[in-house]
Amino acid sequence: MARTVYDKPLVYLDNAATTQKPRCVVEAMVDEYYNVNANVHRGVHFLSQKATDLHEASRETVKQFINAENSSEILFTRGTTESINLLAYCFGEAFMEAGDEILVSEMEHHSDIVPWQLIAERKGLKIKVIPITDNGEIDIKAYNKLLDESERLKIVCVTHVSNVLGTVNPVKTMVESAHRHGVPVLVDGAQSTPHFKVDMQELDCDFFAFSGHKIYGPTGVGVLYGKERWLDKLPPYQGGGEMIKRVSFEKTTFNDLPYKFEAGTPDYIGTHALATALDYVSAIGFDTIKAHELMLTDYALQQLRTIDNIQIYGHPEGGNGDAVISFNIKGIHHLDLGTLLDRLGIAIRTGHHCAEPLMHRLGTEGTVRVSFALYNTKEEVDSLIAGIRRVAKMF
Ligand code: ALA
Repeated sequence: MARTVYDKPLVYLDNAATTQKPRCVVEAMVDEYYNVNANVHRGVHFLSQKATDLHEASRETVKQFINAENSSEILFTRGTTESINLLAYCFGEAFMEAGDEILVSEMEHHSDIVPWQLIAERKGLKIKVIPITDNGEIDIKAYNKLLDESERLKIVCVTHVSNVLGTVNPVKTMVESAHRHGVPVLVDGAQSTPHFKVDMQELDCDFFAFSGHKIYGPTGVGVLYGKERWLDKLPPYQGGGEMIKRVSFEKTTFNDLPYKFEAGTPDYIGTHALATALDYVSAIGFDTIKAHELMLTDYALQQLRTIDNIQIYGHPEGGNGDAVISFNIKGIHHLDLGTLLDRLGIAIRTGHHCAEPLMHRLGTEGTVRVSFALYNTKEEVDSLIAGIRRVAKMF
């Protein structure tokens, strides 16, 4: 990376938080602002039609990228967090009564816990937790037992890939099991979509959420995918323009999918830039991306394991780990390690990673986390390891 920090070459290893943007994504935004900017779906004039075409073509790009059945199943949101808040609110309103249950895993990001707690509080619902094993994997036996025992279970919510452990969860199998009990599943895809192909037909999940900025796209735009037969039955999330068919003071009728859930002017510059990012990823191809990131992850794990007093969370031998590694070094606070690595130009994340319940399970307040993207290199892993050794000597 050309950027330097503190006169050192930047080694950016905080990709699970957000990725850096390829030039084509930034240029798509600049070009649209300069040449095509007009509000979508509202104007008969040339520019509005052009902007609308780009916006709707982006929906089609997302549909193909995740292999949804229809583009009407693609709702544009501000990101994974808003997608899950939308779902929790609308699903809770439509389908849940006091005493009903929601199942979330112990490794969820706060974004897949707190929205459910908000609706649970409002409607008197119960949240149950799928435990994880000491290896940092979903305890499938316990999950199946919870499915068998929960008589009032209405939805299962699980992350595809842990933003702390890198664990890739067996969501396809989990969906199959939940469906045998007639229960729909939300998959949080924030940490999977940047790293490997996700396919809605194959996973068969009922809802799937992801963010643009973690997959080389802009901030402030994301997606909630939902099967049409579910989305059709959900009430709107927000009221305003675009989401209506007709409005009078006596009665309002709502628009068809997906517009029923897209009140107000959408971030049409963002959606076009997101589609540009997805095209960029598709052009490189997930075979290439996955192979490269797996090489980096394996190499980093192998090197990290040579450091004295290190504890790596998750990533069991022969496991199915993705491009995220969390660890602690005994005697060095994660925040100190992160701050000192920063002075060496190495950007990593420290803290609870918005997954406090998981931190409790791991028995720590926080970890150091490194996370890779397609542009990282083996030399950057070497810089990280050298940096950690240098910091460790100071303690
Ligand atoms: N959810 C993002 C992360 O894990 C911010 O870093």
